[in-house]
Formats: sequence, structure tokens, C-alpha cells
Amino acid sequence: MSVQISPSILSADFARLADEARAVEGADWLHVDVMDNHFVPNLTLGVPVVEALHKATAIPLDCHLMIEQPDRWAPAYVEAGAGSVTFHAEAAAAPVRLAREIRAKGARASMALRPATAIEPYEDLLPELDMLLIMTVEPGFGGQGFLDVMLPKIRRTRSLIERHGLQMWLQVDGGVSAETIERCAEAGADVFVAGSAVYGADDPAAAVRGLRAQAEA
Ligand code: DX5
Ligand code: ZN
Repeated sequence: MSVQISPSILSADFARLADEARAVEGADWLHVDVMDNHFVPNLTLGVPVVEALHKATAIPLDCHLMIEQPDRWAPAYVEAGAGSVTFHAEAAAAPVRLAREIRAKGARASMALRPATAIEPYEDLLPELDMLLIMTVEPGFGGQGFLDVMLPKIRRTRSLIERHGLQMWLQVDGGVSAETIERCAEAGADVFVAGSAVYGADDPAAAVRGLRAQAEA
């Protein structure tokens, strides 16, 4: 299982996104939080900004769609250049069809679960996905405290992935920091989103290296 770090630009300076993308050189992905003021009580950015970011950085974009009707909107994020597109299980009308469409358009397909959404009803869908995202805070804002109570869900999901012999990745998002990343890795996560822990640091690239070293330990 190889560790990947995906800094979230939600905690970056939105007036300097290209510079902020360059500031995390060495990261595996750039996590882009798309919020629509409906699925979550916050509004961030959409397709034009993803397109612009894709031109501004060579780091692949990991788009996390916290939006209603992802079935309708997700394909446009692949066309905008996203390397991975995550939709929420709670919002998708037809998750298998949507995952297949994302893959067919050339991106990795991923599904996210809010803290109160169990993995078990989705067990049979796992082969359709390249990644599963377990939220470790309520989606909507950066800088929230890590929900320890999600650790058993991470463990159960890792067991399901192994039981089915799948190669898919397991991402955690929310409150991931130097204090919490080891617990996430030990529970079975291998892709780590970090917003405030990276962009709140004096040297974001060094923060990425530090998180990677901790997760690999
Ligand atoms: C929250 C977003 C996260 C957020 C994480 O809804 O999905 O990606 O940027 O921020 P931190 O790492 O500060 O919790
Ligand atoms: Zn996110």
C-alpha cells in the first residue's frame, strides 16, 4: 500500500491559486473541494476554476464534489481536466452508472461517505470504484476536528477491500494532521487529504513531506 498526499486548496489563498498549487510541489494530488451551498452549507468553486487550475499545475486534480445532482455535473469535471472525481453516495441517483461514466471519460471514479453513512450497503459497488473517500469530519468546512469515531469504519472498509481482492484506494478527508495521520494509516487509509495542516504551515511542501513520512512509518 503506497501512501499518497492530497493537499486541499480549500485552505489556500483563493486569490493566488496557481502559486498555492506550486507551493505543494511533491504532492501526489491537489484536492479541489467543490461545494454548491445545497449539499453542504458553503460555496466554493466550479468547472471554470478547475479548468484554470489544470492549466496552472502539473499535479493531478482530485476533485471532491460536495454537490447535489452529481450525476448531472460530475462529467464536466472530467472534461475540465480532473484526474479523479469523487461524488457523494448520499447525493448520487445512480452511482454505478455515474462511476462508469467518469471512468469512460478517462478519470478515476471515487465515491465519498459522510460520517453517518455506513459502508456496508455499498459493498457490492466497490469494484466499480477506483477510490472510496471516508469523511472524517462533516463536509463543508476546513479546519474542523478529526472524528475519531470514524476509525472503525476505515478498518471495516479496508477489510472489505481486501476480502474482495480489490486494488482500490482508501482516502480520508477532514482533520488529517500530524496528530491524526498515523491513526488513519494504521486503520488502513492510503490517500490522505490535508487542508489546514498543509496550507496553515509556514512551508506547505515540507508539511506534505512530514505527513508522508508519518503515514509511511
Ligand atoms: C471539508 C473538505 C476538506 C477540507 C479539509 O468538507 O472536504 O477537503 O478541505 O480541511 P482540513 O484538512 O483542514 O480538515
Ligand atoms: Zn474534500
